Amino acid sequence: MIKVGLTGMGYWGPNLARVINQHPGSEFSAACDLRPENLERITGQYPAVKGYSNFDEFLASDVEAVMIATPISTHYELAKRALLAGKHVFVEKPLAHSSALARDLTSIAAKQKKILFAGFTFIYSPPVIKVKELIDSGELGDLHYLSLSRVNLGLYQKDVDVVWDLAVHDISILLYWLGEMPFRGSSFGRACVQEAKRDVAFLWLEFPSGVVASNEVSWLSPQKMRRTCIVGSKRMVVYDDTEPVEKLKIYDRGVDFKLPSTFGEFQLSYRMGDMYAPHLENEEPLLKEMTHFLSSIETGTQPLTSGEFGTKVVEVLELLDRTAQAHQRAELDEVIAR
Ligand SMILES: NC(=O)c1ccc[n+]([C@@H]2O[C@H](COP(=O)([O-])OP(=O)(O)OC[C@H]3O[C@@H](n4cnc5c(N)ncnc54)[C@H](O)[C@@H]3O)[C@@H](O)[C@H]2O)c1
Repeated sequence: MIKVGLTGMGYWGPNLARVINQHPGSEFSAACDLRPENLERITGQYPAVKGYSNFDEFLASDVEAVMIATPISTHYELAKRALLAGKHVFVEKPLAHSSALARDLTSIAAKQKKILFAGFTFIYSPPVIKVKELIDSGELGDLHYLSLSRVNLGLYQKDVDVVWDLAVHDISILLYWLGEMPFRGSSFGRACVQEAKRDVAFLWLEFPSGVVASNEVSWLSPQKMRRTCIVGSKRMVVYDDTEPVEKLKIYDRGVDFKLPSTFGEFQLSYRMGDMYAPHLENEEPLLKEMTHFLSSIETGTQPLTSGEFGTKVVEVLELLDRTAQAHQRAELDEVIAR
């Protein structure tokens, strides 16, 4: 049993608390939060857990691994202190608020010979794992494009915009599925409710393999949508995470184009085959993620969502931020030129 401590008991932390407590490989031994009411909620629910409002005192306890679910702007500082105190560290997404800081955490973890785990829940979810298998086995054929939508009403984050909150999930899924970094990206969005904090954004990415992807994210939408469409030359897949049972639908549909020998022979044929919904295992993604964190600690092997992986996700976020600013500049130049 690995002694695990948790810091950050706001909206998300209690989910991690439940999993630490439930997992047979971990002992939930300490909790830390600056807000007494959030801390007491957890220590009241798990009486064996010792509560701390001071992070250094929390680190001085006997915890071997620390899970961090605090606001993004605090990730780097807390994770660095935990690694330097000799703890294995799990940091909720995204790993840090800049790629330079994410890289720094990765190298501190390597020097300290500790596991740094970037928390990307969806990478451990059965439908996302199944799509990875379908892509890698060639069942979808050559991938053409993907379109991903992740919209709902709220929850507005205090320290980041919607790209650094919701698109982080989709970017991590794309990097996992495709196994490559985009070479080009673009984004634009709008801050509708709060000044200078985008609550809606549209992102485009191009990958070296030729795959293109679009991603729509919003905190300002009347309905919750978690829909991804993956289009390959042999099969097409719709992954709807809001579906209670059949989250994945695989379509034998497509368009075949025969190279004509004469103009009159030009022909497209539409393939309208069957659809099937594969059986998916029922294990909760958070539990699977916890199992992977604990086994990485036990075996000393790099997790799937390592510090390096978490850094790549932040690099893509930064690329998209840069293009958002470039769009504004291009518009201004155009007005001046007129
Ligand atoms: N994996 C997922 O699906 C998922 C979902 C939601 C949020 N998250 C992530 O979880 C993290 C927390 O998000 P949230 O919505 O719960 O935020 P929140 O603001 O609701 O909660 C943050 C908590 O951290 C505490 N805190 C702040 N600074 C602290 C410090 N220095 N030391 C100790 N405690 C401190 C606050 O008092 C609060 O209780 C973020 O990184 C977010 O991206 C992940």
